Amino acid sequence: MRTTVGIIGGGPSGLLLSILLDRLGIDNQVLEHRSRAHVQRRVRAGQLDHASVAFLRQAGLAGRLDRLGLPQRGMNLRWRGQTRRIDLEALSGGHSCMVYGQSALTCDLTNALAASGRSPVYGAEDIRLSDPESEPHVITYRKDGAEHRLECRFVAGCDGAHGPARRLVNGAGGGSSKRLPFSWVGVLSETPPVSPELTYAYHPRGFALWSMRSDTVSRTYLQCGADDQAEDWSDDRFWSEMQRRLGPDVTFSPGKVTERLMVRMQGYVADRMQLGNVVLAGDAGHTVPPSAAKGLNLAIADIRELSESFRRLLFEGRQEALAEYAQKALKRAWAGQAFSWQMTDLLHAPPSGDPFESNLKLTRLDSLLASPGQLSLFCRDYTGAEAA
Ligand code: FAD
Ligand code: PHB
Repeated sequence: MRTTVGIIGGGPSGLLLSILLDRLGIDNQVLEHRSRAHVQRRVRAGQLDHASVAFLRQAGLAGRLDRLGLPQRGMNLRWRGQTRRIDLEALSGGHSCMVYGQSALTCDLTNALAASGRSPVYGAEDIRLSDPESEPHVITYRKDGAEHRLECRFVAGCDGAHGPARRLVNGAGGGSSKRLPFSWVGVLSETPPVSPELTYAYHPRGFALWSMRSDTVSRTYLQCGADDQAEDWSDDRFWSEMQRRLGPDVTFSPGKVTERLMVRMQGYVADRMQLGNVVLAGDAGHTVPPSAAKGLNLAIADIRELSESFRRLLFEGRQEALAEYAQKALKRAWAGQAFSWQMTDLLHAPPSGDPFESNLKLTRLDSLLASPGQLSLFCRDYTGAEAA
């Protein structure tokens, strides 16, 4: 097989890139090592920011998102036993977010790709990439017991944090990373949301987040010990801890838990997002702690720009287009990382339980919430206002 752009990974980044390149008339092929059902079931992200929603609309990919997404014009912040609604729209200059599950977006993108007559190769095991400078680039993989070979001019590494592209471009251990001294335990359950808008809470016992997927399904998270395991968190323990951190005036009756996951909190930014004919996009190039809901939004911003760079390279002969993309993507990744760490730090309790540190955090929250200027900057970052 031969193509222009070989895309490794059929998550949101890889699927979106394939659609956009196809529209530009650039031949491409997605290779995904999991099954289609596995990729579409992955729950993960829940919230898209203003810039992502605007781009998906402009690309004609937001039909179902506009019908089923839950607009977030504000968010609730709980601290010191009280709730304050933050008017994201007013404070950010007219920007808002949308709750729409990653699995729903992945289905939409897969359908849009199929409508253009393309389909990822699922179950492509043991993908091996050749030297980044090689031309053509040769990707080998195994499917249904047979060896396959894909020759391409360029490779787009959209294979997330654990795929081979990050290592190929940055070397083993390349890039900067940091792990936080706590994790999240996350639960998907048949419980109506406590509010139509997301609730983020700071409590000296730890952070809590109440998000949702629909009027009847909630996605909830609690800060927990760095090395806690899912078995450490029975349903009873989870809900009673949630109640404690949200306070007695937030009422809910927990429904059936349909998924439980542990999220290790860490950040990573590659040293480079391009080497020779190989480029990285999305989680392959950077991962952020999920506190500020930025990962998928950064991925969408990467793909938007990467597809345009391929256009300039292939139709206008701009040889430096991929290098320019990589520079901009790294800058954006660090900005996203900075905001994600700021929001993580603001809302997570010190694992030591040290009351001195906890009071410092509460005081910082007081001052953010009392300052319209600071709050407006926060809301602009959170809604992706600058990127829109
Ligand atoms: P991925 O989704 O990781 O996709 C990579 C794909 O590559 C996968 O399909 C994988 O199977 C495939 N792959 C991997 N290795 C190989 C291989 N060797 N060969 C072939 N294929 C391979 N972001 C937000 O913007 N908003 C949120 O609200 C939000 N909430 C989150 C909540 C949680 C709990 C978590 C964990 C993340 C959250 N994120 C959020 C981040 C978001 O989920 C990711 O940033 C997003 O999935 C990145 O998409 P991607 O396509 O770049 O990578
Ligand atoms: C989610 O709905 O999964 C979600 C929402 C907001 C976040 C993180 C996760 O900050």
